[in-house]
Amino acid sequence: MKSKVIIVFGMISMLLSGVSMASDCELNVETADSFSWPSALSVPSTCVSVTINLSHTGKMPKNVMGHNWVLSKTADVAGVASDGIQAYTASGRTTAVKEHDDRVIAATSLIGGGEATSVTFSLEGLDASESYTFFCSFPGHSGLMRGTFKIT
Ligand code: CO
Repeated sequence: MKSKVIIVFGMISMLLSGVSMASDCELNVETADSFSWPSALSVPSTCVSVTINLSHTGKMPKNVMGHNWVLSKTADVAGVASDGIQAYTASGRTTAVKEHDDRVIAATSLIGGGEATSVTFSLEGLDASESYTFFCSFPGHSGLMRGTFKIT
């Protein structure tokens, strides 16, 4: 009887620790019909992969108040955002990230109000001592919608 209780307790502990680890590597970012944006996000370097769930709780369509979540080195933000504006026009306002942009570490699709999207990426090749920034590359948004991405 006692050993059964211990086994069940052990299984619950394992489940709980799995959930906790999963949530450390999976972050929810909520946006709206505004430039609200977290100032920083951090993930443990032990994450095999990181998932960002981006939701847009507003009502405006994506060609008016579109948002995405893009990660690059801080030094690359201006270039990625600038090429993103061109991509936005060239794509008929469906994306704000240049295709095959090597400076982009991860990017979600562009969404409007009421929509949600996710991106999963590996931390392999990223350096905890490097400065990374996550931002929205919709034209005109990257100045306000940006935050520091830390690997701890
Ligand atoms: Co935006």
